[in-house]
Amino acid sequence: MALTPAAGGGGESSASPPPARFPRSANADVEWDGFDPQAYVRHNYADLRADDREILRRTRDFFAESKLSDARCVDVGSGANLYPALSLLPFARTVDLCEFSASNVRWLRTQVDGYDDLWDPYWQVCAEHPAYAALTDPRGRLAQVGRVRRTSVFDLPRRAWGAGTMFFVACSISADRAEAERAIGRFLDALRPGSPFAVAVMLGSRGYRVGRCAFPAVALQRAEVVASIAAGAYDLDVHEVLPRPPLRDGYLSMLLTTGRTRG
Ligand SMILES: C[S@@+](CC[C@H](N)C(=O)[O-])C[C@H]1O[C@@H](n2cnc3c(N)ncnc32)[C@H](O)[C@@H]1O
Repeated sequence: MALTPAAGGGGESSASPPPARFPRSANADVEWDGFDPQAYVRHNYADLRADDREILRRTRDFFAESKLSDARCVDVGSGANLYPALSLLPFARTVDLCEFSASNVRWLRTQVDGYDDLWDPYWQVCAEHPAYAALTDPRGRLAQVGRVRRTSVFDLPRRAWGAGTMFFVACSISADRAEAERAIGRFLDALRPGSPFAVAVMLGSRGYRVGRCAFPAVALQRAEVVASIAAGAYDLDVHEVLPRPPLRDGYLSMLLTTGRTRG
């Protein structure tokens, strides 16, 4: 996924501060119910991009090799993206899609009931792996095991799930660096010790626009993301995906980290 920048213009670097219009936007200060899921999907996921394909393929291979089965799974900050939930599907007894924005929660409920055709190419990527190909009705399975929860990453229960994903959330819910770090910590804490997980973030993001609304971001750097995750996890595999070509200015790359949570 790659987001429309809140403030256009190129030449950004990872050290750039967030746009001036979000000098100190904390997560609680943002009007999340103004998030337009249709506009977001149209811009980010209507066509499967090479960078999302690579992230999905790596996530798929990681979960397929993690000896996971019949697990209680969670995707945090699902927004209007189903591919993290799809990556968990063959191994899930349940998949909780936890999201804070009311408009995204409504969108997720309709998609869990029967998702749109545009997600079929994403499932095709999953189904290139035998562990996923064995699941012949992913749409029906998601409707069976998917549960949409309106909740904040900052209110997640501890040690409640056995596997999880959190994609493009820590970087994109606030302009406050400490909140990004706290979101990563709360996500990892929500998983039982030893749980496999995948976290994706944008690096160097300066804020983004969805439809008519602008949202804040933190221009995270690779080392600080890895340090935040390493504080609560082991066996990390870190992979930076460069945009090919970039969908927009205002970010540098995407970082996918997989691993297992510490006890
Ligand atoms: C950039 S979007 C990422 C959406 C999706 N995961 C993806 O991969 O495209 C950030 C998401 O975080 C959600 N969000 C904002 N604050 C949140 C919070 N406190 N807890 C959980 N989700 C939150 C937003 O509503 C939005 O759906």
